[in-house]
Amino acid sequence: YFDQKPVQLLKGKKLLITAGPTREKIDPVRFFTNHSSGKMGYAIAKAASEAGADVTLVSGPVTITPPSGVTTIMVETAEEMYNQVLNHFDEADIVIKSAAVADYRPAETSDQKMKKKDGTLTIEFERTKDILKTLGVQKKHQILIGFAAETEQLETYAKRKLESKNADMIVGNNILTEGAGFGTDTNAVTFFRKDGTISELPLQTKEQVAQALLSEIDHLLKERSV
Ligand code: CTP
Ligand code: CA
Repeated sequence: YFDQKPVQLLKGKKLLITAGPTREKIDPVRFFTNHSSGKMGYAIAKAASEAGADVTLVSGPVTITPPSGVTTIMVETAEEMYNQVLNHFDEADIVIKSAAVADYRPAETSDQKMKKKDGTLTIEFERTKDILKTLGVQKKHQILIGFAAETEQLETYAKRKLESKNADMIVGNNILTEGAGFGTDTNAVTFFRKDGTISELPLQTKEQVAQALLSEIDHLLKERSV
């Protein structure tokens, strides 16, 4: 699996990828989000485009620049990401969900800046839609790859996500591992495949992780073409 042959079958394939965090508005000046930098997803988008794939990147707010040659759609909220991803899903051959989608959003958004008051503040949150889970239900020919960023029990949770989201593979990482957290230029990931096999990759740059993932996808495409 890991001899990293040049990726061949991605050429001409439509790849849809999400990256970055989402931002859920509380009021005109505040939002709820997470530490995702978008670096992993952008590295995959760039590498896939260079391998000849037709790449559409749906990105939450990040500070890095979209790779050239990639069709980039900027979104803010989980709801906007859901809509864009569903719009592009039918035509996609491969979907990679590396975005860190907020699981909750404020149940109400204030049109005016909330003024501070004495005492504690309670904000009620409601669930956002699970994009990957929706794709897992709707999928036909697509190869579906999800991510799982965990702080404990990586194998248990990653395998559970593989099942519950009907994904073909989960790329898992423990964000508490040195060099594998948010915002770093490196990552230490483990591939959890549908056939039950697991590959733990060494700590390497996000560009190298992207290459490893593409060669994994190449392998999946090869399996499907026979
Ligand atoms: N995901 C998604 N839509 C959401 C939440 C997550 O598409 N509303 C996707 C992520 O992009 C990722 C995968 O689901 O590819 C796993 O995300 P993760 O946050 O690890 O899992 P959750 O199912 O949200 O479970 P939890 O946060 O409780 O671990
Ligand atoms: Ca989550």
